[in-house]
Amino acid sequence: MPSRKVTIVGAGQVGATAAYSLALRGLADVVLVDVAEGIPQGKALDLMHARRVAGYDVKVIGSNGYAEAAASDVVVITAGLPRKPGMTREDLLRVNGDIVRSVIGEVVRVAPDAVIVCVTNPLDVMTYLAWKVSGMRRERVFGMGGVLDSARFAHAIAEMAGVPVSQVDAMVIGAHGDTMVPLVRTATIAGRPLAEVLSAKEIDQVVRATVHGGAEVVSLLKSGSAFYAPGASVAAMVEAVLTDARRVMPACVVLDGEFGLSGVSIGVPAVIGAGGVVAIEQRGLADEEIAALAASAEGVRAGIAALDLGE
Ligand code: APR
Repeated sequence: MPSRKVTIVGAGQVGATAAYSLALRGLADVVLVDVAEGIPQGKALDLMHARRVAGYDVKVIGSNGYAEAAASDVVVITAGLPRKPGMTREDLLRVNGDIVRSVIGEVVRVAPDAVIVCVTNPLDVMTYLAWKVSGMRRERVFGMGGVLDSARFAHAIAEMAGVPVSQVDAMVIGAHGDTMVPLVRTATIAGRPLAEVLSAKEIDQVVRATVHGGAEVVSLLKSGSAFYAPGASVAAMVEAVLTDARRVMPACVVLDGEFGLSGVSIGVPAVIGAGGVVAIEQRGLADEEIAALAASAEGVRAGIAALDLGE
């Protein structure tokens, strides 16, 4: 197999955890890039030390520049400030917007053929910004938010129903924020609809745990935000690209008429494979779910407008 390369920009909590999760899959060499001196190099060395005992044999390199990122197959962007307690994702818009702009400029220069996976919050707005600034086709730039929200949804369902999480299939679409849309109607436990197993009150609790899962971690940690589940979610999406898995996963994609929405990026069911977004899965959503998606997109539109991209 030709050696492949995944660059992760931002070697903080999410970036480093994504690197570890990805290394464990053995699919590609990993380059960690960060502005903080020594951090990407130190974490890369630590990840190299882990190889013999963790059971992977890929290379991990850390750098403060972009030369090592040249010709990457996938570039993941986690550079930015994490959400602090009491801070909304929208508070982060301006500062992280400037960071994403500058990172994309470098990425397009050294890895013009890469698939770009945006992770920096506010996710949906940053994905739109990354796509716009990159000048790339929309298939090649997507955001990771829905896979994480879906993982939290599956966890909450499994806990409530007392079943192994592997028995749960559940998806969350919409913005990666308070207006997210957990798809209760199509969620299943061992193939059975959620409503057959849980009461309406239990389902309501599960939905609330899903929507507030990220904030709950933030308030427990006191400083910083979640990174294990985000890191694993990044690795799952990157794996789908590298292996051309063509798995349906929720991905934040710039829409062009799908679900009646345009000029906005938001989490929708997407087929993820080689080249990024292979297709957007438009079948299977009920009218009220599409309405909730459209309502969620309004907040993203406001964020995009606040970026003042000159349109
Ligand atoms: N280029 C490269 N790296 C940068 C830049 C930049 N211009 N600006 C900041 N960074 C780096 C920081 O030095 C830091 O190491 O990004 C890293 C962010 O790491 P953390 O502060 O640990 O944040 P983390 O929890 O990893 O979250 C990163 O992902 O989930 C989102 O909301 C989260 O937007 C946040 C991002």
